[in-house]
Formats: sequence, C-alpha cells, structure tokens
Amino acid sequence: MLKIGGSIGAETDAALDAVVALNDGGHPLVVVHGGGPLVGEWAERLGMETHFLRGLRVTDPQMRDLALAVLGGLANGRVVAMLIARGVPAVGLTGIDGGLLRADREDAELGLVGKVALVDSALLEELLDAGRVPVIAPAALAQDDGEILNVNGDAAAGAIAASLGARLLVFVTDVPGVRGKDGRVIGRLDADLVRALVDDGTIEGGMLPKVEACLIAAAAGCRAAIVATRGIDSVERLLAGEQVGTVFEAAA
Ligand SMILES: Nc1ncnc2c1ncn2[C@@H]1O[C@H](COP(=O)(O)OP(=O)(O)OP(=O)(O)O)[C@@H](O)[C@H]1O
Ligand SMILES: [Mg+2]
Repeated sequence: MLKIGGSIGAETDAALDAVVALNDGGHPLVVVHGGGPLVGEWAERLGMETHFLRGLRVTDPQMRDLALAVLGGLANGRVVAMLIARGVPAVGLTGIDGGLLRADREDAELGLVGKVALVDSALLEELLDAGRVPVIAPAALAQDDGEILNVNGDAAAGAIAASLGARLLVFVTDVPGVRGKDGRVIGRLDADLVRALVDDGTIEGGMLPKVEACLIAAAAGCRAAIVATRGIDSVERLLAGEQVGTVFEAAA
C-alpha cells in the first residue's frame, strides 16, 4: 500500500514508478494520494484563505467542497490517468465510495475535518480480487449525519492499511524521512521516540499525521515507512525487509 503526497504533477509520475513496478511484479496494491499543494493553489486562484492547525487544513463548507473537487476530481484523475498510460489497471475513487471511510468530526476549530473511525474495505477487496489497483482520494462520511468530511490523506492511508491487513505501507513524500533535531533522517522510529520528537517540536506540520498513521499501521501488524519521491527502488527494498528512509517496524 502506497500513499503519495505533493502537488500531483510531473513529480508524481516518478513516485508512480514504484506502483508500476509493483503491479508488474504481481503485488496487489492500493494507492492513496494527497494533494494539499494543489488544493492550496486552487484556493489561491479563487481568493480563498488557507489556514493549518496541527498539520490539518481548517475547513469551512466552501473549503470542503473545493478539497473534494480538487482531490477527488483533479488529483485523482491525474494519478489514474498517469497509471493507465503506463499499463496499470487503476480505478479512481474517494473515501466516500462504497462507504469506504467513516469519520468523526476532529474538533469544532477545524470545521468539516474528519478523524477516520471506521473502514469498510469490501469494495477495495472486490477491486483487488479483480486485479484492479484502487486509487483513493481522501474524503469520508460523518458517522452521525453522513456529511462529507475532509480527511488527511495520511490518516486515510494508515486506517485503510490496517483494515486490509497490508504487509507494507509506504509514504512517498518530499523529504527522505523523518528528520531528528540535527536534521538527519532517523532510520527507525517507535511510539516512544515519536512522542519525544513531537513534544520537543522536531516533528511538526505535515509530518504529524504521517507518523501517527505509521504508528497505527505498525500496531496493526503492517510495516510502515516514510521515503522520498526519488529512489524508485525504495519500495522493493522495503519489501525485502531493508531499511530505507524512516521505518516503523510492525508489532509482532
Ligand atoms: N521532523 C521532520 N522531518 C521531516 N519533515 C518534517 C518534519 N517535521 C515536519 N516536516 C514537514 O513535513 C512535510 C511533509 O508533509 P506534507 O504534508 O507537506 O507532504 P505530503 O503529506 O507528502 O503531501 P500531501 O499533504 O499533499 O499529501 C515535509 O515537507 C516537512 O516540511
Ligand atoms: Mg500531508
């Protein structure tokens, strides 16, 4: 299982090399993508202000609509198109489809932002059984009233990986791993180390939901890693048990 972040442009194409290689190798595969920069770009074009709190986007109804349009439409379509062009049988969907993701509202300050509470992976399993590669844009339905909520792509990926019993969850992002206080990438992390790095502010912003998702996946028995876009073979090396970027070993 792979989560790709960033602006979903030409750079994403390189990140998708790993998807192509894994698909060619016959590995069942799920892709979750973000697209924060793309949402930001469109918000600016439309004159909408963007605010972040603890790495999460403050989301009023208008911003929720924009996020759904950009992530579920533009970003998802681009990723699926790139994969189809390269022979991968990709199928695009959002966390809404098939009731995949249910969430609770994170908190009032954040607005229409959900914390993933429940994953119904039936649709994903059908697609995987049919040899398809699901490509998921983050969005979820509120558990109480069915409202569409914006969810962080990392949180969605962590919950889905745990629910599917995935072997490996890889976050492909714009940094080579989690950096420590000295700026160097930390090869291995666990819950205690993460807590210390979060408490002293070394891990912040967009890295917060990522490490949290890695901890959830690892606790569910899924090896998780954070690696850079460049380094196409990193996913295969991770599958072989090697340490690349920052790794969270699966709980026994
Ligand atoms: N300790 C840290 N080590 C490395 N990066 C960190 C750290 N703390 C915060 N970051 C930030 O986290 C960012 C990665 O998260 P970000 O949300 O920006 O990307 P993404 O999740 O891959 O993309 P998207 O949100 O579009 O899906 C890095 O670019 C970096 O600025
Ligand atoms: Mg992010």
